Amino acid sequence: MIEIDQYNSIFMLKLYPTVNKLIFNICFVVKEILIGYGNMGRLHARVMNKLGVLAAIIEPDKKSAINASEDYDVPVYSSIEEMPDSLNPDGAIIAVPTKYHKSVVENLLTSISGLKGILLEKPIASTLDESYEVQKFIEKYGIPILVGHIEVFNPVVSKFIELVNSGQFGKIRTISISRKGAVPVERLNSLSGVLEDLGVHDFDILTRLISGNISIYSTGIYKNNSLNSALISVKGSDFHGIIHLSREFAGKERKIVLECEKSTFHIDLIAQTIEIRALGNITSDKGMISIPHGPGSSIKVYGEPLLEEHLNFLDTLQSKSKPLVGIANGIKVMKIVEACKQSLEKNCPIEISL
Ligand SMILES: NC(=O)c1ccc[n+]([C@@H]2O[C@H](COP(=O)([O-])OP(=O)(O)OC[C@H]3O[C@@H](n4cnc5c(N)ncnc54)[C@H](O)[C@@H]3O)[C@@H](O)[C@H]2O)c1
Repeated sequence: MIEIDQYNSIFMLKLYPTVNKLIFNICFVVKEILIGYGNMGRLHARVMNKLGVLAAIIEPDKKSAINASEDYDVPVYSSIEEMPDSLNPDGAIIAVPTKYHKSVVENLLTSISGLKGILLEKPIASTLDESYEVQKFIEKYGIPILVGHIEVFNPVVSKFIELVNSGQFGKIRTISISRKGAVPVERLNSLSGVLEDLGVHDFDILTRLISGNISIYSTGIYKNNSLNSALISVKGSDFHGIIHLSREFAGKERKIVLECEKSTFHIDLIAQTIEIRALGNITSDKGMISIPHGPGSSIKVYGEPLLEEHLNFLDTLQSKSKPLVGIANGIKVMKIVEACKQSLEKNCPIEISL
């Protein structure tokens, strides 16, 4: 078992939040506001507070706003307009329901000057067309945007992408992805369909592994008018794949199996493990050719994806690095979402170029 020890600094942050909060405050004096204190907003607030960057929360719902004031010692406003100009935030994190992403981005950029970056929860917007509008708007303001495809920040993802893209295991032949869990019906309204909710994470990973022309065919089943489970077949010139997304699964599964020309990868995104099995041809003493699993190796990585995402956002605000998931990544992903939707509607494969 190979232990990858590159996340020591992350552990330090987790273990010594107060010390690190001080270090961040002293060194960077970064101020971030959080817009939306719901399910995802609460998770962001926890990390922002640990990092010492949480300056204010904007939450229109009275009950959630009271919860926010009880949980954190920062001002809570009911709207962006109510926030005083003197607050002068460096960054804003938007965690409102997807259908409001576009209007909140526009309102934010027209109301607050001096912003150095936005972390916009995934997906960019409800549709590809709306996503293009968000892209146009933020490009007009020249502000970097980090899209919250959080799985890309899972260290196990960056590790296996690096390994596969190194070329030493041969080309990818088959991709099999499953992302399954259960979501209560009352949350469906905030989350859009399963493609935008769960799929965006895997579509982003896919675009980091393959490129060119692909054909997409999707089937799906609905609950309360929301696409709740989808099977997506992907075909390129010399590879194919299947992605199973479900919000109707008893349990939680996040797995990727990649069959490359020389090896097979089994990746467990929750356990953060990668198992690599070599594919070899051996002639037995009876003269038969078998294809056994050759010597393999296992890799274990550590790291909290949400914290990694926030650290990348902090670096972006300080111009130390670019967002790992920029607007172009978000648009590519929405192209796949749109192709899946069209395939569902027309019941035929849809060709796109990545
Ligand atoms: N990255 C992930 O893995 C992940 C997971 C869950 C949700 N999300 C995303 O986070 C976003 C929010 O989802 P959620 O589950 O937290 O929803 P939620 O409904 O639990 O919370 C949204 C909050 O935003 C508030 N809100 C609504 N309009 C607002 C506005 N104009 N200004 C400020 N606040 C406003 C609501 O009152 C609510 O408290 C969605 O886009 C969703 O796709 C991402």
